[in-house]
Formats: sequence, structure tokens, C-alpha cells
Amino acid sequence: MTLWGGRFSEDPHEDLMSFTVEQSDRRLLQDDLLGSAAHARMLGEVGLLTEEEAQQLVEALGDLLQEARQGRFEFEDADEDVHTAVERRLHETVGAVAGKLHTGRSRNDQVSLDLRLYLMRAARRRVEQLRSFGRILADKAEEVGDVIVPSYTHLQQAQAIPLAHHLLAYAWMLVRDVERFEEAESRIAVSPLGAGASGGSSLPLDPLIVTEELGMKATFANSLDAVASRDFAAEYAFCCAQALVNLSRLGEELVLWSTTEFGWVTFADRYTTGSSALPQKKNADIAELARGKAARVIGDLTGLMTMQKGLPLSYNRDLQEDKAAVLDADDTLAGALAALSGMVASAEFDPPPPASWVTALDLAEVLAARGIPFREAHDAVGRLVARLLSEGKNLADVTAGELEAAHLSFVPEDLEVIDPQSSVERRHTPGGGSYVSVLDQLAELRSVLREA
Ligand code: ARG
Repeated sequence: MTLWGGRFSEDPHEDLMSFTVEQSDRRLLQDDLLGSAAHARMLGEVGLLTEEEAQQLVEALGDLLQEARQGRFEFEDADEDVHTAVERRLHETVGAVAGKLHTGRSRNDQVSLDLRLYLMRAARRRVEQLRSFGRILADKAEEVGDVIVPSYTHLQQAQAIPLAHHLLAYAWMLVRDVERFEEAESRIAVSPLGAGASGGSSLPLDPLIVTEELGMKATFANSLDAVASRDFAAEYAFCCAQALVNLSRLGEELVLWSTTEFGWVTFADRYTTGSSALPQKKNADIAELARGKAARVIGDLTGLMTMQKGLPLSYNRDLQEDKAAVLDADDTLAGALAALSGMVASAEFDPPPPASWVTALDLAEVLAARGIPFREAHDAVGRLVARLLSEGKNLADVTAGELEAAHLSFVPEDLEVIDPQSSVERRHTPGGGSYVSVLDQLAELRSVLREA
């Protein structure tokens, strides 16, 4: 069934239907019903429907919502889209009055409203998931306690840090992901209903009634913008893409850390997979797919941006491509958060201690604290490192004599600095890789990520 037979003398060709019908909008069913009920109420309030008619439509739409929630709403192959299916079902239940629902409305403003309502709810769910994953990372950080690992730059060992500090870096990324979704929601929650097909309506509509009824934050200011713009969908997809890109970095590290070579972490069997060929294997597929699926969601975002690029105002059917992309981005993030947070919760960390080289900066800073220009201190320690390496030694092997020879301002007690544990204990700068900072971060994260 289509909603536009009148001016046509032929039925639509099947190739037209199969190319132009996009079934992902069926997932907007509940939003379409809620939006339609708000529209019907508004029509009643402004007198375009009698009180009785409005009541009849609202009740029937409520029944259909029940059907939808219980999975009993049946689409027909011939339904051109979700809006058509709703109107068809409405006719089946209340008869001719169903034909009044579309008064002052177009599918152009309707579909944008539906997607906005869907994404408002989805954003809240993603925020909950992100917060919960953040709390899992905070729990893990607490659990690993004072375990020390090297930090890395260029994937070379850099400084000694608490493993907790590394885990919490990801928690902070999640906090910003939460903020992004919350901020995006304020732009998503703008009602386009009343914009009509493109230029508004001659009927005495009151868009504000719908906005308030649906708990949205604002009403459109320009009808062309309202039906033509999908920056809200692209922004939502960006929120998903950036969150997944963050997860992909964590995923990459979890893969790396679970290798035999690193040996930092193992995961519960229920969160890992095996190899059909290699009996000894236990793979961190969830982490790999968090990495892999980030690519796909970047693709969704790219699709949404490209779809809008150069598109003339106002509504064009191209915009129908928005739903498959943004829903896929959202689904993918939802799945990644669920699986990855379970896997991380099951992680058991037992990393080997870092090599003493990670204290080289501490040694240089001993001199800097005594007033030696840092450049000179860096050079002295650099030369000491080169000498030890050429002799096949470690920084931990250095003697008091060698240290004093490296720079006149070194004293034998400085040997104590050459220990990853003391490196971390001596560090106090706020936000740095120190125990104090980890405790401060945990307190702050606990308050930012607490359950709403
Ligand atoms: N399925 C369409 C979409 O997703 C709904 C709006 C159709 N409007 C139209 N004038 N054909 O954008």
C-alpha cells in the first residue's frame, strides 16, 4: 500500500518498490506511533479534529503501541514505509477517521521526528552503558592496586606507572563519550513536526503542543531546515564512531596485553574464542572486533556526511539512507559496549615488572632538581644509558661510581631512584602516573560515573 495513489494511472512497478523501499524504518514503529498520537492530540486541541475524533485516534494509536511493544504489529510486504503501515493498521481498527491523522503533516517532517525520538532514547541507553563500562574500569583499576607497568610512547617503554593509571585513561575517554551523547541529545530533541512537506501549512497547527507532549527541548525554527537537515543523525553517528574508536584503542591494547610476549592479562573463557585449527589458542575476538567494527561505524558516519553533501533544500529521498547508517552505528556501539565491558570485568592482570630503563627520566630529573639544566642532565643520563647498553648491562646494574662519573652532581644515594616502584612512589603531580593521582581520579570518576 502507498499513500499517494490519486494522481497515478498505473500501479508502481515492482522494481521501483524494491529499489525505493527501505525497511530499516520499521524500527521506528513505536516512535511513529508516539509521534502520531501527539499530532492527533494537537489536531484536537486546535480544533482541526473534534474532541471525539482525536480521542478515537489517540486510543487506537495506543492500542497499536501495545501491539508494537508485544511484537504483534504485522507489517505487510506492500507497506511502502512505517508511516504507511501505521495508517493502514489505523484504518483497519478505526475506519475512515484514520484518514484525518495526516492532516497538516507530511512524511517529511514525520520521519525526521521519528528518528529524533528513536535517537533520544538510544542516546540515554548508550550513556548508561558507557557509564557502566566506566565503573567497570574504575573497579578494575582499584582491583589491580599498586601493580606497576611501563607507560609507552612510540610503543617503547617510557616511564613506570600504576597499571590503574593506564586503565583509568580509558575511563576518562568514556566520560567524554557520555558528555558527547548528552550534548548531542539537546540538538536531537528538536521537534520538526509542523514543517509539513517543506513550507509549513495553511492550517492552524500548534507545533509547540507536540514538542511539549513528546518531552522534546525545542521546536523547529525553519520548516526547510526541519525537513532537510540530518546533522543530528550525523552527530549521533559521530558520537558512536568516536566512542568506538576509543574502544578500538582499548581493544588493540587488550589484544596486545594478552599475547604470550606481553603476558599482562587473561580473560574468562566465556569471553574468548578458540581456533578451529590450533588447539592451544584462546583469542580475544571481542577486543579485535571492537577494533574492526570501529571501521564500519566510521563508514556509517562517512555515509551520513556524504549523503547530505551538496543536497539541495529541502527534503530529498536521499535522506532515507540516514536510518540504516545511524541505526547500524548505534547497534554496533551497543554490542561493543556490552561485550567489551563483560570481557574487561573478567580480566585478570598479572603483568611483569618493567625494566629499570623506565627510570632514566627520574635520574635526569634528580639533576634538574639540583639546578642542572635539563638538557645537560638528559645528555649525561643518555650517555650513561648508551654505555650500559654497549656493555650488555641494565640501568639497575649501574654502580655508585659509574653514576658519579656520569655527572658530578650525582651522589651514591641516587641509586635508589633506579627502581620502578620508587619512581612511582616519588611522583606526586596531579593527574600524573602516581598512586595519589590514581586515588584522586578514582574519587572523581566515581562521582561522575555514578548511576543516575
Ligand atoms: N521513507 C522516507 C524517508 O525515510 C520517508 C519520507 C518519505 N517522503 C517522501 N516524500 N517520499 O525519508
